Amino acid sequence: MSATGRAAIRSPQFDYRGGVLYTESLSLDQLAQRFGTPLYVYSKAAFIDAWRRFNQAFDGHGQRVCYAVKANSNLAILKLLANLGAGFDIVSVGELERVLRAGGDPAAIVFSGVGKREDEMRRALEVGILCFNVESEAELLRLSALAHSQGRSAAIAIRINPHVETDTHPHIATGHRDAKFGIDIQRAETLYGQAASLPGIRIIGIACHIGSQITQPAPFMTAVSHIMTLVERLLENGIALQHVDLGGGFGVHYHDEPQLDISALIGCMRQAVEKHGLKLLLEPGRVLVAKAGVLLTRVEYLKTTDQGRFVIVDAGMTELIRPPLYDAWHEIRAVELRPGMPFELHDVVGPVCESADTLGRDRRLAVQAGDLLAIMDAGAYGFSMSSNYNSRPRAAEVLVDGEHATLIRRREVLEELMMQEELPD
Ligand code: LLP
Repeated sequence: MSATGRAAIRSPQFDYRGGVLYTESLSLDQLAQRFGTPLYVYSKAAFIDAWRRFNQAFDGHGQRVCYAVKANSNLAILKLLANLGAGFDIVSVGELERVLRAGGDPAAIVFSGVGKREDEMRRALEVGILCFNVESEAELLRLSALAHSQGRSAAIAIRINPHVETDTHPHIATGHRDAKFGIDIQRAETLYGQAASLPGIRIIGIACHIGSQITQPAPFMTAVSHIMTLVERLLENGIALQHVDLGGGFGVHYHDEPQLDISALIGCMRQAVEKHGLKLLLEPGRVLVAKAGVLLTRVEYLKTTDQGRFVIVDAGMTELIRPPLYDAWHEIRAVELRPGMPFELHDVVGPVCESADTLGRDRRLAVQAGDLLAIMDAGAYGFSMSSNYNSRPRAAEVLVDGEHATLIRRREVLEELMMQEELPD
């Protein structure tokens, strides 16, 4: 419950039964007892729901949905998505190896990112990925030389920076004039011309990704219109493409943001792209996984100061950095409701030695020490951005399917944190 604003739209897979928060058929307190806290808990049904809803707009044909692995890269989740038919958007050889290990099809992988190393390109060429999304001339030249020297051809799209402003946090806006991402739209035609004449390069598409957690359709549609104008010019110049990759960025409803009508948006994107006989490719991350996960944490202490009340929990910015990094709002719910206990306003804070280590401010909660809290909508950019700061072992992750819970990542132990280090004589 929140002090201000509407409550976030809830995933039906996380709901109260008899005053206790459940996911699917298991109560979160049972899971905490069995696996300890802090704990990431995911619902398989919620992943499947999100996948189906996203794909509805395609009526089953023509598309390629390449899940952005960075949002949640646990192998079990990648496997689940691969089985549902997902392709993958990767940004490192680490993500590539994860997708391969999880059984993902290399021929359905697009490789994004401004700083692809030669060894990363080599591996991607070796396994035969679908497409390199090239972000600079220097990268194009490196890829051409490498592919040519191996007698291979690298399929490419050039990532365009369409110079679009978005309504999102500045840290996650990528399509504006000052961003390091993509090629300036004015320079793109020349670079395509160059790419067409380079050995080892096969042009198959065009790409853009304007940012993340975008909750209005307008910036997407402005980008589409700029990209399609460019596509028309390329076609006139004899550069034929197979696909238009419009990236990810589809916002979810964490708190009081507008609700993005994704089906309608994808419908418009399809129309613009398919008009030219091209295929639409998308790289959604957050929208496929955010609502399918919660971070479960236990209250260690309650503390009152002259300024206010704190709930001190055993998770912090090491487990979920989104609130400190982007001022992100995640709903915080008591796992067990306490009828009769008065609600008070609390800041929910972690144990990390930084004032930024706050998971939620001014939350209306009725809790006592030992209670469990669920930080909602934490399936995207939660575990995948976690760290060992303050020598804190990473949390465990559990996937719930009906009444079954599978540990899909065991909790780190302290020994693992020190394993790579040496004590000099
Ligand atoms: N494609 C590219 C090239 C990207 O850089 C990203 C995300 C995506 C697709 C997926 O975007 P999504 O559909 O998830 O919005 N850590 C931040 C988000 C960073 C997004 C980085 N790039 C957060 O927690 O809000």
